[in-house]
Amino acid sequence: MKRELNIGLEGIAIAESKITHVDGIKGELVYRGHWAGELARDKSFEEILHLVLFGSLPDAVQLKDVTQKLISLRALPSELKTVIRSMPKGVPYMAVLRSVLSLVTAPEGTEYPPTADQALSLIAMTPTILAYRYASVNGTEPVEPHASLGHVENYLYMLNGRALEAGLVRALSAYLILSMDHEINASTFTARVVVATQADLVSAICAAIGALIGPLHGGAPSKVDDLLDEIGVEERAEEVMRLKIERGDRLMGFGHRVYKTWDPRAAALKYVAQHNTEASKLLKLSLHVEEVAVRLLEQYKPGRNLYPNIEFWAAAVLRSVNVPKELYTPTFCCSRIVGWSAHVLEQSENNRLIRPTAIYTGAWPDHEQAR
Ligand SMILES: CC(C)(COP(=O)(O)OP(=O)(O)OC[C@H]1O[C@@H](n2cnc3c(N)ncnc32)[C@H](O)[C@@H]1OP(=O)(O)O)[C@@H](O)C(=O)NCCC(=O)NCCS
Repeated sequence: MKRELNIGLEGIAIAESKITHVDGIKGELVYRGHWAGELARDKSFEEILHLVLFGSLPDAVQLKDVTQKLISLRALPSELKTVIRSMPKGVPYMAVLRSVLSLVTAPEGTEYPPTADQALSLIAMTPTILAYRYASVNGTEPVEPHASLGHVENYLYMLNGRALEAGLVRALSAYLILSMDHEINASTFTARVVVATQADLVSAICAAIGALIGPLHGGAPSKVDDLLDEIGVEERAEEVMRLKIERGDRLMGFGHRVYKTWDPRAAALKYVAQHNTEASKLLKLSLHVEEVAVRLLEQYKPGRNLYPNIEFWAAAVLRSVNVPKELYTPTFCCSRIVGWSAHVLEQSENNRLIRPTAIYTGAWPDHEQAR
């Protein structure tokens, strides 16, 4: 059989999917028939969760139902609290999440085939695990989930010990909506591979978290934060970034493997940040750094089409809403877990074991096979 080598599987479609359309040349991102950038302006996390997971924007009854379900599934059982508290302080948050989610036993069970209700349990609990761990590592009293706040507002409430202003909740909601799914990226592919063996949803999600731990996939917004810190004031932006490019360093938050034009998520998040967060020093610095970076990248790397990606504006938003740096990538999980779950459900509904192949380039036996 002729085997074609395609290292990295670029451009290879591994499934038909109704969930997300990405066009990196045109700069398009569509969730189930809706422009993601438009959804991010005024829809809630729960509405887009319903769209991505169940296939349609919810009517009032469906929205109330999904919101209530998330609220009722948020609290951590005491055994999981004990596990979180007993983990050594140095365990990274992503490892905590991967380990603790692996122990979740949803009310409706966790065995194959996966269901949307199983997914809701994991989605509901993820922010609580992070907030509880953050409090226990920092020696503060964990804040129990609020019985009436929405999913995003409640996450900020648990982290800050108080509810934040509506504009800040909007900004974080926009980020979480825009990062909810991105077609067959590495972690989503991983989740589909795992469930295609008829393993359970929890195993698929934990494997996806593992894939996201790698710096080539997750992790850029905190590096954008470092860049903004290093620049400090607008006047230094050009000098700092010019030096970096001349040294051969990459400007964090710019360029994308798929988008060769403006990342539609970055454009949408910038719009929401400008309209919902105060005209802070940070916002002004971000706008200036973006403008200078795009100009310098065009000058030094002509034709490479390097524009801000979602991580650039995620850094500004996450910092404005007081999410600590070490929780940036885990916070991304709070939203991408919805996309992973939707893909797991889609894969299991029309399943075929995913089993690619390799071209053998190793040594060959020096005699014919004994028969
Ligand atoms: C995301 C990323 C890995 C995509 O890279 P890619 O599409 O595979 O592009 P390549 O790595 O092939 O780079 C193409 C050229 O653009 C340059 N380039 C790409 N991103 C750059 C950046 N952020 N800063 C400076 N130069 C960059 C490369 O140096 C290369 O230049 P060359 O042709 O002179 O060698 C890359 O843009 C990057 O490292 N960005 C910074 C990290 C980041 O923001 N990651 C979050 C992504 S959501």
